[in-house]
Amino acid sequence: MKPIQVGLLGIGTVGSGVFNVLQRNQEEIRRRAGRGIEIAMVADLDAERARSIAGDKARVVGDAREVIANPEIDIVVELIGGYGIAKQLVLEAVAAGKHVVTANKALLAVHGTEIFKAAAEKGVVVAYEAAVAGGIPIIKALREGLAANQIQWVAGIINGTTNFILSEMRDKGLDFDVVLKEAQRLGYAEADPTFDIEGVDAAHKATIMSAIAFGIPVQFDKAYVEGITKLAATDIRYAEQLGYRIKLLGITKRMDKGVELRVHPSLVPAKRLIANVEGAMNAVVVHGDAVGTTLYYGKGAGSEPTASAVIADLVDITRLIEADPTHRVPPLAFQSHTLREAGQDLPVLPMAEVVTSYYLRIRVADEAGVLARITGILAGGGISIDAVLQREADEVGGEGSTQTDLIILTHDTREGDMDAVLAQIQGLPTVLAPITRIRKEELN
Ligand code: HSE
Repeated sequence: MKPIQVGLLGIGTVGSGVFNVLQRNQEEIRRRAGRGIEIAMVADLDAERARSIAGDKARVVGDAREVIANPEIDIVVELIGGYGIAKQLVLEAVAAGKHVVTANKALLAVHGTEIFKAAAEKGVVVAYEAAVAGGIPIIKALREGLAANQIQWVAGIINGTTNFILSEMRDKGLDFDVVLKEAQRLGYAEADPTFDIEGVDAAHKATIMSAIAFGIPVQFDKAYVEGITKLAATDIRYAEQLGYRIKLLGITKRMDKGVELRVHPSLVPAKRLIANVEGAMNAVVVHGDAVGTTLYYGKGAGSEPTASAVIADLVDITRLIEADPTHRVPPLAFQSHTLREAGQDLPVLPMAEVVTSYYLRIRVADEAGVLARITGILAGGGISIDAVLQREADEVGGEGSTQTDLIILTHDTREGDMDAVLAQIQGLPTVLAPITRIRKEELN
């Protein structure tokens, strides 16, 4: 079957990510969506750059309206940004009966009501997972995963630029202006960083989450918006001494009298997970009456993380177009006829084939040569040591003890190799108790 035909409006950072990820993962995406997804057209004012990304795989045009007018195009992806021409083009695409995917938080926070109404009248979807917190599927979580709950509040670090600046101010004790310049030099902040540092970008995203959480229209004009430009390094330091971190939070809360919608720097207890979200990362905490508190963490910007969310929307819409109403989302994510047979070319590995690193605690006789013998056996088995700690015998077994514990951290190795080596070590007469082995996962 012919792949779903996508037209990209704008092929900058995110657009090129969408292009690359769709290419790289096309087979998996087809198996999930039930049909291939292909970028057939790209519109960009910089046709040369667009061609350098799209090559001969998509038709490149300078006029976005050519994409919208093309009856072959099923889904239009708007990656232009802002409220101006982007709004017109989204409305025109909807009027032309196209489904739309957009990453444009500003557009939806301000004009969402009008856009969603137009889409409903035309019977098309406007999808926007990428508009809030980039690659984190927070729209899906709020709209679908948490649908049983009365959402009570949502609080998020939803602007990576400001979180990077705040992290640097805290780590290095530097003032805002100094760090902003550094962030611009490193590409973490734009040449004109106003929307980010004044809290506007976060307020756009908080506005969208507020609407989804509480079933109210998007109301950016009612949001309280305060950025980080007036924050002093001194306050970050004092807050730290009191056990808090300062984060720019987008907050929306259900109260008896109404809904709070606000963005401002906030003290957060340092022990909260969200207080430890550093650098350009994003995180959103959602509190629902049934589920309690849940946390979503990941990259809130960048080429491929944002593309990940855009493509998830493309897959959703493709599943809708394919319309098997009972199995819109396949129970095991991939269309059932594309599931691999058990074991076929992607088997679940036996534990002996698992690769991980290890913490070992070995109770040994405190004698000369014991450590050398054990490390020799590890080396002989091809296992590389990351760290070794030898406890004082007195500490381990009390005054005059002749036993001690060797603690060894290894680098990654096959479990089967580790089993063989541990059997040898366990057999040494100087090893006095069963060896404790705990697997170590860096998760980085
Ligand atoms: N400028 C945003 C940020 C990314 O710094 O998080 C896009 O919303």
